[in-house]
Amino acid sequence: MDKFVVRGGNPLLGTIKVSGAKNSALPCMAAAILTEDEVILENIPQVNDIETERKLLTSMGAEVELGYGRAQHRTHIKCAILSDPVAKYEIVKTMRASSLVLGPLIARTGIARVAMPGGCAIGGRPIDLHINGLEAMGATITQDHGYLEARADRLKGAHIVFDKITVTGTEDLLMAATLAEGESVFENCAREPEVTDLAALLIAMGAKIEGAGTGTIRIQGVSKLHGARHRINPDRIEAGTFLIAGAITGGDLNVDCCEPKHLGALITKLEQCGVKIDVGIDHVRVRSGGELKAADITTEEYPGFPTDMQAQYMALATQAEGTSTVIENIFENRFMHVQELIRMGANITISGRTATVRGKTPLQSAAVMCSDLRASASLVLAALVADGETILDRVYHLDRGYEHFEEKLRGVGAQIRRMGDVFGRK
Ligand code: EPZ
Repeated sequence: MDKFVVRGGNPLLGTIKVSGAKNSALPCMAAAILTEDEVILENIPQVNDIETERKLLTSMGAEVELGYGRAQHRTHIKCAILSDPVAKYEIVKTMRASSLVLGPLIARTGIARVAMPGGCAIGGRPIDLHINGLEAMGATITQDHGYLEARADRLKGAHIVFDKITVTGTEDLLMAATLAEGESVFENCAREPEVTDLAALLIAMGAKIEGAGTGTIRIQGVSKLHGARHRINPDRIEAGTFLIAGAITGGDLNVDCCEPKHLGALITKLEQCGVKIDVGIDHVRVRSGGELKAADITTEEYPGFPTDMQAQYMALATQAEGTSTVIENIFENRFMHVQELIRMGANITISGRTATVRGKTPLQSAAVMCSDLRASASLVLAALVADGETILDRVYHLDRGYEHFEEKLRGVGAQIRRMGDVFGRK
């Protein structure tokens, strides 16, 4: 099981490139189920979740090519025949986002058998809102030995108001509605850029969608969708992680190939912390502005402060003068990084969904354990300023969503390397 070894103390200097967004690529790959034609997606990140999605689609009968050559980072997906519309537990248990195939499968084939995704480190992660929405569109969904069995002759458009704002719930139902009979109106939708990116692909495939990126989305169902070529958005969470890396190390870092307009909440907060930010067309430069100042955050749905940046921000807050309050509104257990940060010398207390960070505290290197994707990123950020060499275990969590993470950071001066497991394997 790979580990990272990180020696703290180097300010990050230079330009670091952002890859395509994992959380855009996953629904866009699932959208290929909706047509028998080929769908080509560019700017696909080379991360493990994408490989998992490739395996999932292939297991159902899709032809999936995935290439990362210099010019590529591209996938060609052709779901001409879906011989086995089943999302098997062995795959789903490794990636909850597999539930994104539920809507497209029912819409395309009228039948779907999808393993119930278990919870994960950050919360129970139910998909009741996906199920309720599909039932409102005429699907019959039963539970059978850990699987959801879903059937529908043809889905019918529906007026649905989401009880809670759900990103993949919005995406799942949006895909299903594109082939439903009649009009669908969805309210209280997620407004994340990943929803807008998916809608852009679906429209390129012939879907009739208005309002993606707002709280109300209107879809006119069509009988068929055709293939398309689409470029995936830059990953706003990877970009935000690098911005914090530049800020926490007191460096001068240009985060390139990103979409600054997706980073508004984080940029505002970093400026409140006293960090210098220069925003370009497709890049953001972050520089130290002297001592970091404490600032509070509350995670909200987009365009609020993203929950996927909460753990990374908390690492920064340990280096800020003063007390920062971090309120996690989206997931019930997204403080797994806190105990590890405390083991590195941070002063953090938790009460319910509120963490109180008292800074500035010098961080010490330690042996720490990664628990989930963004908590892992938080520990790397802390290690970049810790005194000495930090060993991070279970970095497979990072490999799910950050492409060449250690190489990119090493390229701007970080002392970070990957260590094979105890047997010295790479
Ligand atoms: C997406 O997860 C992202 N994953 C998550 O990113 C991200 O943290 C999350 O949105 C919030 O922004 C992908 O896009 C693949 P939700 P998702 O449905 O869609 C509750 C990362 O680090 N809920 O918006 O699963 C849910 O429990 C990952 O890249 C229900 O109650 O999140 C949560 O409290 C982690 N019932 C809240 O809604 C449902 O049917 C928001 O969840 C669905 C969700």
